[in-house]
Amino acid sequence: MSATSADSVFVARSEGISAEGVRDQYADGKAAKVWEIFIGDKNSRTENYKNFLINLLKSKNCKRILDVACGTGVDSIMLLEEGFEVVSVDASDKMLKYALKERWNRRKEAAFDNWIIEEANWLSLYDDIKDIVKDGFDAVLCLGNSFAHLMDSSPEQLEHKKAIKNFEKCLKPGGVLIIDHRNYDNILETGATPAKSLYYNSSHTADIKTSVLFYCGKPAMVAMDYLIEANNLTSEFRLSYYPHTLSQFTKILREIFGAGAEHQIYGDFKDLNEIQNPAFYIHLMEKGLN
Ligand SMILES: C[S@@+](CC[C@H](N)C(=O)[O-])C[C@H]1O[C@@H](n2cnc3c(N)ncnc32)[C@H](O)[C@@H]1O
Repeated sequence: MSATSADSVFVARSEGISAEGVRDQYADGKAAKVWEIFIGDKNSRTENYKNFLINLLKSKNCKRILDVACGTGVDSIMLLEEGFEVVSVDASDKMLKYALKERWNRRKEAAFDNWIIEEANWLSLYDDIKDIVKDGFDAVLCLGNSFAHLMDSSPEQLEHKKAIKNFEKCLKPGGVLIIDHRNYDNILETGATPAKSLYYNSSHTADIKTSVLFYCGKPAMVAMDYLIEANNLTSEFRLSYYPHTLSQFTKILREIFGAGAEHQIYGDFKDLNEIQNPAFYIHLMEKGLN
């Protein structure tokens, strides 16, 4: 039994239009419309991890960055402002619309004028943007619990592996993948999702109701029903996720990058020994030199 079967039993509110077989959960525009209300003030959001991320990127000598789940562009914009060269992609045109608008509004700034934004999905990413990849990026970022949007129909998680392989192919030798997921181990254990976290600190998030769908005795999908209340506007949307456990996700990363690849795991952008039970795990994987 597979997670995709589960997804078809427990239907997300936005069924979306598939692009290359990928369901765009943002296609009805509901989540996209309130996304920036949900994440709170952009600067205060990125303030939570900006120094950590930038120091990490600089310590690895990264200059050219590919943001593979840019959404409305929050992290990409922060990196452009910090002097990185950024290429941003996302599968959802409803989310990209906001990034494109920001690029247009700030087109007089050279960094924004040169900002490349493309629609692409992870399952065909390398082929979609081969001409832009050239010799490879110094870093690929997949942040904000984005990767868990990708369901997988196979018990071997073949689609997850395909997507991660595409990320790896977009890196130059020695480049780094920085990718996160919520702490699903804890969500599965408690049945609850923290409404506030380093990414989502908006005072407007009233509630996140969490449902865990078990399929043949195994957790197959986590659905989160968000309730956003702001300025007389109440918005509800549902997003569903694949519940990556830390050990299984680690195993897949190591399989794709090779057992000898450098792998660091952080909790909420801190060393793991500094934090108990983080809301997010962030992995750094380094591609070998040959
Ligand atoms: C939770 S949003 C996060 C956006 C942004 N990183 C942030 O933190 O605000 C997840 C994003 O991943 C994108 N996404 C989901 N599946 C994708 C896929 N298969 N290929 C490309 N983008 C995808 C969605 O369209 C959405 O914009």
